[in-house]
Amino acid sequence: MKCRICGQKAVIKLRQHNLALCEEHFDEFFLKRVKKAIKEYRLFGQSDKLLIAVSGGKDSLSLWDALVRLGYHVDGLHIDLGIGEYSIRSRKITEEFAMEHKFRLIIVEAEDFLEGYTVPKASQRLRRSPCSLCGLLKRYVMNRVGVEKGYDVLVTGHNLDDESATLLGNLLTWQEEYLRRQYPVLESTHENLLRKVKPLIYLTEREVAAYAVLRSIKYVEEECPLSRGATSLEYKSALNQLEVHHPGTKHRFLHTFLQRRPFGSAKSLQLLSCSECGYPTTSKVCSMCRTKVRLKESSHEIRTS
Ligand code: AMP
Ligand code: FES
Ligand code: ZN
Ligand code: ZN
Repeated sequence: MKCRICGQKAVIKLRQHNLALCEEHFDEFFLKRVKKAIKEYRLFGQSDKLLIAVSGGKDSLSLWDALVRLGYHVDGLHIDLGIGEYSIRSRKITEEFAMEHKFRLIIVEAEDFLEGYTVPKASQRLRRSPCSLCGLLKRYVMNRVGVEKGYDVLVTGHNLDDESATLLGNLLTWQEEYLRRQYPVLESTHENLLRKVKPLIYLTEREVAAYAVLRSIKYVEEECPLSRGATSLEYKSALNQLEVHHPGTKHRFLHTFLQRRPFGSAKSLQLLSCSECGYPTTSKVCSMCRTKVRLKESSHEIRTS
């Protein structure tokens, strides 16, 4: 197998593009696909102060590496969720990556926002699914830390596989409001709300993994132990099965949707400021502050029973 551009030995075959590439030309391809997303959706400019949410997985670490190589000013934010060995490894790998590259990394611990509980402990206390609590915490912390520290844009590592699986899930359940909000850029609509962007929408999970390997980026390979059996993983696997016989399915599915936006764009909700913390909410008190109150009450019940 030879590189289509230079004829040297190819290291990867991209069936959906009918393309084989050598190491150097795959690297070029990868950076071009990141640039394409930034340009097409006007995600950010060279003077913006970017904060990337880094989990320790291949997507966010590779994207951090690529954005810095493209000349952007990007600092990292890692949230230590307290999910046993998985979180210990994720934090360590993220810290080592930042140290090695001399990138600035902010670390936040779940306990600081969950009345001293980790994600699994808080979810037990509240009898609430860990993934839903974890999602709420991540969204809140990413936004709040970014705003407090004066960043302009929050960057996440969602790739083509993540976004097409989310699209499939939202269509299967006709989540029209989520479908309107599914876009590579979400503008800020409140003084305490960061603009959010996803520059990896043109790259598949496999392409990102190849980039990480070629750039010698060490990353956590395992999935979160609490997300095992999650429906989103089934949607990914279903799309990958289609991709075997119909290369390019994921790309067409997601990008035609993004071009057409058949459900329209996100309604501009009238966001209020949470009476407790001041961050955006649609009710008087935000979900994070309400969760904190419930956690406090549950600790009190334990002490008094
Ligand atoms: P996931 O929801 O796990 O698929 O992650 C989607 C994106 O959210 C990742 O690419 C990261 O940008 C960000 N992210 C996930 N987990 C964390 C974490 N623990 N700390 C910081 N960012 C995270
Ligand atoms: Fe949030 Fe697993 S990463 S529950
Ligand atoms: Zn080549
Ligand atoms: Zn609040």
